[in-house]
Amino acid sequence: MTDEDTIESVLKEDRHFEPSEEFRQQANLDPETYEELVAKADEDYEGFWADLAREELDWKEPFDETLDWDPPFAEWFTGGELNLSYQCLDRHLDTWRRNKAAIIWEGEPGDKRVLTYQELHNEVCRFANGLESLGVETGDRVALYMPMIPELAIAVLACARIGATHNVIFGGFSANAIEERVEDSDCSVIVTADAGWRRGKEIELKDAVDEALSSGCPSVEDVVVVQRTGRAINWYDDRDHWWDELMAKQSADHEAVPVDSEHPAFLLYTSGTTGKPKGVLHTTAGYALWTKLTSRWVFDLKDDDVYFCTADIGWITGHSYIVYGPLQNGATTVMYEGAPNYPRPDRLWEIVEENGVNIFYTAPTAIRSFMKQGDEWVDKHDLSSIRLLGTVGEPINPEAWIWYRDTVGGGDVPVVDTWWQTETGGIMISPLPGVTTTIPGSATKPLPGIEAEVVDHDGDPVDPEANEGGLLVVQKPWPSMLRTVWGDDERYKETYFGRFPGTYLAGDGARRDKEGNIWIMGRIDDVINVSGHRLGTMEIESALVSHPSVAEAAVVPRPDDVKGQAIVGFVTTEDHADGGGPELSEALRAHVGDEIGAIAKPAEIRFAPDLPKTRSGKIMRRLLGDIAAGRDPGDVTTLEDPDVLDALIDE
Ligand code: WT7
Repeated sequence: MTDEDTIESVLKEDRHFEPSEEFRQQANLDPETYEELVAKADEDYEGFWADLAREELDWKEPFDETLDWDPPFAEWFTGGELNLSYQCLDRHLDTWRRNKAAIIWEGEPGDKRVLTYQELHNEVCRFANGLESLGVETGDRVALYMPMIPELAIAVLACARIGATHNVIFGGFSANAIEERVEDSDCSVIVTADAGWRRGKEIELKDAVDEALSSGCPSVEDVVVVQRTGRAINWYDDRDHWWDELMAKQSADHEAVPVDSEHPAFLLYTSGTTGKPKGVLHTTAGYALWTKLTSRWVFDLKDDDVYFCTADIGWITGHSYIVYGPLQNGATTVMYEGAPNYPRPDRLWEIVEENGVNIFYTAPTAIRSFMKQGDEWVDKHDLSSIRLLGTVGEPINPEAWIWYRDTVGGGDVPVVDTWWQTETGGIMISPLPGVTTTIPGSATKPLPGIEAEVVDHDGDPVDPEANEGGLLVVQKPWPSMLRTVWGDDERYKETYFGRFPGTYLAGDGARRDKEGNIWIMGRIDDVINVSGHRLGTMEIESALVSHPSVAEAAVVPRPDDVKGQAIVGFVTTEDHADGGGPELSEALRAHVGDEIGAIAKPAEIRFAPDLPKTRSGKIMRRLLGDIAAGRDPGDVTTLEDPDVLDALIDE
């Protein structure tokens, strides 16, 4: 079947890994409880969620109604009142966790800081008081444009404490991005730093804020500045405040303000491939519930674990799985400021070894770059503390999955490939480490309560026996779903519910196998149509990467008179020295032919020292497509490293 909505699957992977008996014995979720949860969600969807919400959250006021669903607008746990910062901090203070490390932080230059729950609570209260002293009230928006330093986590939680809606802007974005995001959400305060460290260089954050404020952002009245690197900055007395000076005046007592379940907790802008960024809105109770539960179920978080997620708090992964999820569970979460390969390729392994990290969560792009650097950087370290590995952000090619499990995990730890999005707030499809049999490359099954499905163009589930591709959707509202696009209900409706009314369209292509496992095949926009066969980029890229000379690959379409589209593969090699000539190019085409079949053979292979990526590590296939087709790549401001593009075009 080939029509506009199906993607043909060509990937063959059938290695299965069952949870070890040892892991299963101690897992937070065992197969029996899992079955019960699934059955309960099936029989009584609202009852399932209501029970969990009552058990997991500390309610100041109990909720009256579990779900008010007026498609596509959902309200969860209405009438209830609670506070996210209370969930993360105060709850632990009258337990033994009071003096437990909440955050273990390491700066790029090697400086360290550990904050216990009590200390974090005190700092958060001080900053909440500080924000209030600047006039910030419940419901106001506050922008955070900061490096990965403890003050960022403190600021996030301080906003939550007073019910101010935070808007974290990734500290690598430009002044333009600040302006756009701050103006769209009318923030009254921006919290920033003089600069942050990245690969030994200063990222000049305050300068970018000054630039944004010089041309726009009329809503901003105050700027709070953390002194991180000590560099000289411009100062505007009427609006700038040093963090330390503001904090010194504040008391460490602050009563968390109870807010409504549906109170806007935060906005996070997501770029998408086109158009102006969307302000994804998450609210309080549903988000709290799902980030808490998924942290415990998927990462098997235990009280004696040290947990390290390498994301930046500027992305949803950092919000949900560095701050809110782990802290609600009273866990110890590691935060690292800098580049993963600075000053050497084993920086992260040093952190793992030094802190005895038990659970490690990173992105496929990082895993592929670790592979490329060579096993010796991993082998130098004792990583035996690691008992669970996770990945997120892109489909992981089986090659990288196996390497991750064997080389980083020592061959015997569960790997959880977690599928989710900024919009979903928390993990949706993922193995449960004590329950699920994993297969490299598959995110496996939806979590209990999540009605994810793969459907055809009519919205009917695809036939797993036929191994067909389709569209990934979620058929029922879930507590941590986005509530709208800030200020643009119409865009929310159109983008996510325009295709199938009442059903959430994720924008990813996927397939289901005979065992019911879901395989994500990439964004629907990234599909390549060769002579009427719709091929997902992910599988062809996986085939390329499985060749020993290839470190990373991206495939894109190029217009073709005969076939409609032809496949162009951009490849970085394991060893730059062998740079890739016509011989390797031919070998790679043949390799894809063997692995998949002639239909997927790239028409052309281009070798590149690096691939263009967004700052969150996603390959920018749109740009590569422009280059392959000889078009002008246009706007490249979201690129992590714009020089990469010049190198490609010059070729
Ligand atoms: C898109 C969402 C959610 C945290 C980071 C990204 C892709 C995410 C996986 C995975 C295959 C994945 C999807 C999704 N994606 N996780 N495990 N397997 N693809 O958040 O920036 O909102 O991106 O990332 O394409 O739609 P995001």
